Amino acid sequence: MRDGVEGEAVAAAMDLLIRYGEGLDAERLCEVRNVAGTSTQPTPAKQKIVAEHGWDKAFAVINLDSDQDLSIPSMKVPTCQLQHGFGADAIGTIPYRQELVQQQEDAEAFASDRGINILATCTPYQVGNLPVRGEHIAWMESSAVIYANSVIGAKSNCEGTASTGAASLTGRVPYWGNHLDENRYGTHLFSSEVRIDSFLDWGLFGYHVGGIVQEERPVLTGELGLPTATDLKHLGAALATSGGVEIFRMPGFTPEAPTLEAAFGDQPVPTEIAYTSEDRRRAYETLNDQGSSDDVDFVLLGCPHASLEQIREIASLLDGKTLHEGTELWVMTPRALRSVAQRNGDIATIQAAGGKVLTDSCPAMSRTAPKGCQVFATDSAKQAHYLPAILGIEAWFGTTRECVEAALTGTWRGELA
Ligand code: F3S
Repeated sequence: MRDGVEGEAVAAAMDLLIRYGEGLDAERLCEVRNVAGTSTQPTPAKQKIVAEHGWDKAFAVINLDSDQDLSIPSMKVPTCQLQHGFGADAIGTIPYRQELVQQQEDAEAFASDRGINILATCTPYQVGNLPVRGEHIAWMESSAVIYANSVIGAKSNCEGTASTGAASLTGRVPYWGNHLDENRYGTHLFSSEVRIDSFLDWGLFGYHVGGIVQEERPVLTGELGLPTATDLKHLGAALATSGGVEIFRMPGFTPEAPTLEAAFGDQPVPTEIAYTSEDRRRAYETLNDQGSSDDVDFVLLGCPHASLEQIREIASLLDGKTLHEGTELWVMTPRALRSVAQRNGDIATIQAAGGKVLTDSCPAMSRTAPKGCQVFATDSAKQAHYLPAILGIEAWFGTTRECVEAALTGTWRGELA
């Protein structure tokens, strides 16, 4: 491939992967047949390249790190687009620029024409991209990578725009990091003294543990309830937010960890670190230390993008009610799930209350919030962590119910139960 038998674009992609692998001391490449990357996100830099040289050049520069004039062929392996900007249906609903939508639509046409599926979500595993256990994959998006590694048992490093672009055209990535079994065993053992059985508590536990282990691999035990897929989505996103965790294990529950011993491979089981009610309170207070005013003008739910069960819960909390004047509620979900929730009436319920169900993106990704927004509330540890820094606004973190209550009253009354 590097020598050009499959064309210049594939050669450039392979050249990048070999350089990348050599930089990492990888012994070889491995085959992948599932790539989740990004080639459609609108950016000023991309706009400039496209205006001057066209979409092939933009893909070459941004997705292959190549200055050559390449003609980009169809992707060699199944590839999907992760979250990007908002779509045309958000215009007039939220303050988002029309020219970004246009750029994205042009990018989508280019990418779709080359076989990229526009799933447009940070949760591709919720909408049809579900790798199998043991499969080597090349994914971006920290919350998706940790879910793939830990919940599904597929094998991915946290890839980047260029390496996923190159993987799409070659079906290869360097065989290093999380692709090697010896790098997938636990490094730290946590035992929760607190019963973990709510969406909020899975997020708090993840946020606390991620802050301690940073990029290592925690094994989670103790008073753990049986998490739903939605809970695990929140747990993983929180672990990858306060730290850079890419793999966690729950013995007897997640793949590759049938027992505590197996979770650590051939290494001795380390001394356990307790997660106490004080730790829980500290995590909660850290996530709430950006909040001072109780006047909430924005509530954001669905980070990572909401599941159908989350949309159902939000709809039932809003049923027959009306949002506080001056407070907006946005629910982020994959476009495919919104269409299901449209059919079952949940979207109509949320909209009747004044809420907005948005797709494709999120405020953190698109740097977009309601005009004049100063204080927001969320049930997502990840969004509470990032959005104050990105948009310079205050944040409150709490349960979904407390957030919906804030949307209905305009006032934050959350507290740790
Ligand atoms: Fe998804 Fe945005 Fe959260 S991309 S994980 S909703 S920060």
